[in-house]
Amino acid sequence: MRIVLCGGAGYIGGHAAVVLAQRGHEVAIVDNLSNSSARAVERLGEVAGMPFEFHHLDIRDAAAMDRMFALRPVDAVMHFAALKAVGESCEKPLDYFDNNIGGSIALLQAMRRAGVRRLVFSSSATVYGDPERVPVTEDARLQVSNPYGRTKLVVEELIGDLCRAQADFRAANLRYFNPVGAHESGLIGEAPGGIPNNLMPYICQVAVGRRPELSVFGGDWPTVDGTGVRDYIHVMDLARAHADALDYLVREDRNLTVNLGTGRGVSVLELVQAFAEASGREIPYRIVGRRDGDVAEVFADPSLAQRLLGWRAELDVRAMCRDAWRWQSANPDDYAD
Ligand code: NAD
Ligand code: UD1
Repeated sequence: MRIVLCGGAGYIGGHAAVVLAQRGHEVAIVDNLSNSSARAVERLGEVAGMPFEFHHLDIRDAAAMDRMFALRPVDAVMHFAALKAVGESCEKPLDYFDNNIGGSIALLQAMRRAGVRRLVFSSSATVYGDPERVPVTEDARLQVSNPYGRTKLVVEELIGDLCRAQADFRAANLRYFNPVGAHESGLIGEAPGGIPNNLMPYICQVAVGRRPELSVFGGDWPTVDGTGVRDYIHVMDLARAHADALDYLVREDRNLTVNLGTGRGVSVLELVQAFAEASGREIPYRIVGRRDGDVAEVFADPSLAQRLLGWRAELDVRAMCRDAWRWQSANPDDYAD
């Protein structure tokens, strides 16, 4: 199939591009490089063994999107393109509404004009907010506590309405838990600009000497060791799920909303320990106050994805830490080497 990956130069989209190319699909990457780089696109080509077709454009640019879709018939779109920093979304909500919601509407309109009727959308476990119980199933109550989360929920709802209105439109909402790790080559990985918001890239930067210590946000949560518990999932397992979700849309001709996680909760201190073992580096840390908006414990019930897609996460926390460290130690300044 010919598949367009919007936001495909980024962390998750890039790993998905590699997996899709390996499965024999023709991949075209669309990205405005607002949170990625031409260097990252080059590296993706090195990993795949062949340069990717790349379109440097914004999904909100209707004319440019029409030209891109007109090149050759497209079988499906995977939509990774979004801003994703929760704190920033609270300061600049309009930017998030414009890019994430406006961008998604513009993309859906461009797909309609081009007659493309399959979509795989990057949603997030953030749509569950502070879940009433764990493991979280897909029918849990949906609630959002920040503008970023709202954009994910709204776009899921828009896609749902579109599926009801357009009988032949098929979509998969993939609710990612906490993607971490990197391709085993060490050539591509997560490259957060500025100070990382998320735990794993922060640990990586401490390990590689870019930051003196990790602040652990809260040691008094009602969890196994008092630190926050999350469901970390290896980005290559996640990437594989995208290919499987697309196969499902084609094979079953039905829409899909699934959790993508391992089903296993891991605490901050457990991840720190696993990373120290994988890297052979000590990770100095200090327990500080809780972060606003954080919750104690979130992990997935991933059984629906297994039932419908035949997918399950295979790589464990050791592999996640090993591969994140391979990437960071070989690229201490991410793609800026
Ligand atoms: P990322 O920032 O690395 O990738 C997103 C890519 O989209 C970037 O390359 C960026 O340049 C591009 N982009 C943004 N707006 C664009 C626009 N208007 N037009 C064209 N390109 C645009 O982020 P990621 O971690 O790879 O996340 C991918 C998707 O998965 C996002 O939608 C994110 O919200 C979602 N998600 C991520 C996580 C996570 O922890 N990384 C968790 C849940 C969901
Ligand atoms: C974050 C996002 C969420 C998104 C999810 C997956 C926030 C507030 N929420 O959540 O919307 O869906 O990523 O991408 O950003 N931690 C530390 N020190 C740090 C960083 C994190 O102790 O420097 C702790 C956190 O308190 C949490 C755990 O590590 O307990 C994981 O944090 P993080 O990686 O930011 O992911 P989420 O909190 O799940």
